[in-house]
Formats: sequence, C-alpha cells, structure tokens
Amino acid sequence: MIHKRVHKDIIKAKEDDPVYGGRGVATGAPKFNMPAHEMKPRDAYQIVHDELMLDGNSRLNLATFVTTWIEPEARELMSETFDKNMIDKDEYPQTAEIEMRCVNILSDMFHGHTNDTKEACGCSTVGSSEAAMLAGMAMKWNWRNKRKAQGKDTSKPNMVVGVDVQVCWEKFCVYWDVEMREVPMSAEHGYQFQADKAIELCDENTICVLGILGTTYTGEYQNIEELDRLIDIYNKKTGYDIPIHVDAASGGFIAPFLEPDLLWDFRLKWVHSINVSGHKFGLVAPGVGWAMWKDWSLLPEELIFHVNYLGGDMPTFALNFSRSGSQVIAQYYNFVRLGFEGYKKVHQACLDVALFLHDSFAQSNLFEPIIDNIRMPLLAFKLKEKQAFTVYQISEKLRYHGWQVPAYTLPKDCEDVAILRVVVKEGFDYDLATLFLKHLHEAVEELELQTENIHGDKRTTEKTIKTC
Ligand SMILES: Cc1ncc(COP(=O)(O)O)c(C=O)c1O
Repeated sequence: MIHKRVHKDIIKAKEDDPVYGGRGVATGAPKFNMPAHEMKPRDAYQIVHDELMLDGNSRLNLATFVTTWIEPEARELMSETFDKNMIDKDEYPQTAEIEMRCVNILSDMFHGHTNDTKEACGCSTVGSSEAAMLAGMAMKWNWRNKRKAQGKDTSKPNMVVGVDVQVCWEKFCVYWDVEMREVPMSAEHGYQFQADKAIELCDENTICVLGILGTTYTGEYQNIEELDRLIDIYNKKTGYDIPIHVDAASGGFIAPFLEPDLLWDFRLKWVHSINVSGHKFGLVAPGVGWAMWKDWSLLPEELIFHVNYLGGDMPTFALNFSRSGSQVIAQYYNFVRLGFEGYKKVHQACLDVALFLHDSFAQSNLFEPIIDNIRMPLLAFKLKEKQAFTVYQISEKLRYHGWQVPAYTLPKDCEDVAILRVVVKEGFDYDLATLFLKHLHEAVEELELQTENIHGDKRTTEKTIKTC
C-alpha cells in the first residue's frame, strides 16, 4: 500500500512538473528516432512551439507571394474544417458543393463559357503548381489525341514559354516529357515578354504557348491580348490549333478587380485554360489553387477518374487524393465576406503601398525599379550603378531587422542584373512600408560605412533613399 501511494505521488509530481523542468525538455527533441515513451501534451507542444520560434516572422516575409495574414473568422472556419477530407465528397457534400461554387465564381470572374444548366469546368488544387500540371496534361492529351486521329507522330511535344517562367512549368516539362522552348529576355526590350518571338518558336508539335499574368521575377503582366492576336493569325495560316494557357497564379486575383477591362482571360479566343493561386492574392492561407478551363470540351474525358468506394460515383481530376477542405472553405468565406468591392479595396490598398515604394525608389539616386508599369502589388528593383556592396548584402542586412527580402538575378541572358523584390500583401500597410524604407536606408548607410572603412572611399550615395 505504501509502495502504491509513493508511486501515485511520483505520477502526481510529474504531472505538476514545470514545463522546462520536465523530461521532454531535459532530453531534447527527437531528431532521428521516434521516442520510446509518450510525454505530456503540454511538453510536446512547447518543444515544437519553441523550435518554430526560430523561423522568420511571416508578416515580415516580403519574399513570399503567399498570404501571411487572414481574418480571425477565416482562421476559425479553417480550424473547424481541417479534419474534413476534400476527397470525401459523398461524406462531406456541402464541402464539395462549396468547392463547386468557388469554381463557378472563378469561371464567371474569368468569363468562362458556362450556361445555367451546367457547372463550370475547373477544380481546386494544392496550389498553382498542381493546377499547372493538370492544365499542362490536358493540353498535351488534346494535342496528342488530335495528332493520333490524323495518324501523325506524337513523340515530340513542345511548349513555348518566356524564359522567366516559374519553376512549376520546368517541372511540368520534365515530368511529362515535353520540350520547353524559351523566349529570351533582354534589357533592350525592358525585360518584357515578346509575343512575336514566341510565335517564331511554334510548330506542329506545340501543345501550347504560355502567357503569364504577373511574372515571379518582376510582376510583369505579359501582353496576352497581343499573344492571342498573333496566335490567331498563326493558327489560321498553318491550320494548327495551338492554345494559350495563362499562368495567372498572382494576377488572376488582381486584374479582375483592378483592371476589369484588361483582356487576358477566356474572353480571348485561344485562352483555353488558366491557373490561379487562392493562397496568393486570393487571400487564403496556404495551400489552395485552381485549375480552370474555358469549357468542358477542353478537358479530355480520359483524365477524369471515377471512384465509387467513397459512396456514389465521384469524378476526380487531381494529382493527389486526400487533402484538407479548410482552404477551399476559406476561399469561399473570402468570396462571401469580401465580394467584388472588398477584394478591390484590399488589392488597391496593397497596390498603393507598392506605388509608394516605387516612387521612393524612382526618386532615389541608388535604386531603380525594374519595370515602371506597376500593376501588381509587387516591386522589383536594382542598384542603379555598380556599388562597393551588392543587393545580396542589403538583403542580409535587412534580416537583422527581421525583413525577408530576396535578392536574385534575372534569368538567362540577363543574369548580370541582380535585383531585390518586395511583394506587398494584405497587412503590409504604410506604417510598415515606412519602417521598411527606414531600415533599408540604415542598411545602405551601414554598408557604405563598412566600405569606407575598408577602402577609405568617400561616401557617394549620400542620403540614398531620403524620400523614405
Ligand atoms: C507565376 C507563378 N506561377 C506559378 C507559381 C506556383 O504557385 P504555387 O506556389 O501556388 O504552387 C508561382 C509562385 O510564386 C508563380 O509566381
């Protein structure tokens, strides 16, 4: 009896242990093997939580395109639904219904061809990368089916893209054995996509030409209307049916609100499919994306799988099977909550901050924006002239204040241009932007001082970004 009481006391003592005096914290977090014994939830939580303190602060992450702030109500809905598997459409019919509503709303936003009796053609994905794979496959299958029917060779598909394409398209080409043909970029043409050069790379084996609405490197909106006009002429001349796919990962949630008259979407004849990231300017926490087709005829039936083991007959077009439904729910929450007016307000506010930064750089004697026509809340800028320090050092200095600003070179043929990029997202307001400019100014001053000390140089870039 005495023995039992002592044991109970020991257990009691363990339960009452202060977190940082407990076993978990004393033994450290497991790195290679699963621990043999369990620990108190509170201790396990604290260990994982503490480790994550070493990550950067997502709100100061100006590198990512992905949403870093969401409304508490969206957070609540997400935590209420993270355990609903998106694929269990028969078990969670309302989640499935909400996904379909989102597809319909997006199709309407992009001027898809639907009628009242049929749902729009599209599906949710984990992000634009998965959407790109699905849309790319559909184009490859359509091209191949047509070639097979004509008794022609189907072994050498290619795809034409600007050299500043996002890595997901390089992956698509490697994974699905498609040759990637790249339209070069040049300073002479203001680092802009040249649609006429894209047409020169097309031939009978081209499964599609890619247009990008908001490139990852500079935020450029490629001229998709011009691309469509030139492809139309080319297709008429050759008898081919080369479609355009628009990678609107970022711009797809900006242009419909800020430039509704801009022609880039399904209003254009040859734009057959579009990908867009819900977790970028769709304002949802990661990860959700959307693959959209102009109409059902463009999605080959053989790519759609039907499963019956969830109950009912469920058509699916996706690379993975299970995933949480909470991001799709949050996307729908944003549609309901913000509506057209709300999205427009948020994006306009972010664009205004980006323009404020742009003006500061345009007036400085040290930096210059890469492109002048800022249409997305994104700013890519470079050093005007060669300095004793680099953009990489500036990026590193900004880290001391917590800011994460990527420094990188432009793609092939323009690798000599190194830039910094700031993506303005909801939550990065004028106050934070002003603080950012102050810290940028200090970073430059420190680097100038360091180089003065090393070389005895006189400071040349006096009050470089004073307007900040
Ligand atoms: C133009 C473009 N396409 C595709 C992607 C990939 O998007 P996701 O991260 O949603 O897979 C990105 C990501 O930044 C992008 O900028």
